[in-house]
Amino acid sequence: MQQNIYTVLVNKTHPVAEDFLSSVKLTCAKGTKDRPFLIEEKTYEAYLALEAYVKQQENVIIGIGNAYRSVEQQQMIYERFCWEFGQAYADKIVAPVGKSEHHTGLCVDLELFFEEEGFISNNHNFDRISAVFEKHVHPHLADFGFILRYPEAKEHITGYPYEPWHIRYVGQEMAYKIAEQKMTLEEY
Ligand code: DAL
Ligand code: ZN
Repeated sequence: MQQNIYTVLVNKTHPVAEDFLSSVKLTCAKGTKDRPFLIEEKTYEAYLALEAYVKQQENVIIGIGNAYRSVEQQQMIYERFCWEFGQAYADKIVAPVGKSEHHTGLCVDLELFFEEEGFISNNHNFDRISAVFEKHVHPHLADFGFILRYPEAKEHITGYPYEPWHIRYVGQEMAYKIAEQKMTLEEY
């Protein structure tokens, strides 16, 4: 029986343990625009159920914009953000290499599909996508074992500004507790 990987805390002060991935089964997922991603097996199963549910019940199409990232991929993202937006901004929103929850395979960055534009990624149209996420996706997260990892106004606790697209799998029981008490994973 493997340890409960789903409760792991990764943030700026808690790097991912070097052997963490040895207890995780990563599987291949189809992301938006047919991009392939690795993701933890049970997280993917739960994600697919969430995707099907919001499509049927809310008429909203979500897709995977990102999931597991290696340290090399995180480094590349950090460098790209530094290049595009400057280092201060990159430091604010991109996790340091080795300290991103994406290294665990237990989280997903969601994208939203709009008829006119296709899938829209997280850093464009923030107000527009957060309104849709808040109304149609966030209320169902806990039912599928997910939490909103970086809620609004919790930057002082999580270390990151509000990310309406970044969801983390913790399992239903823990997700309900966290959602009911409007907690962060840090506080839990
Ligand atoms: N944007 C999140 C915090 C990350 O880089 O892992
Ligand atoms: Zn993310």
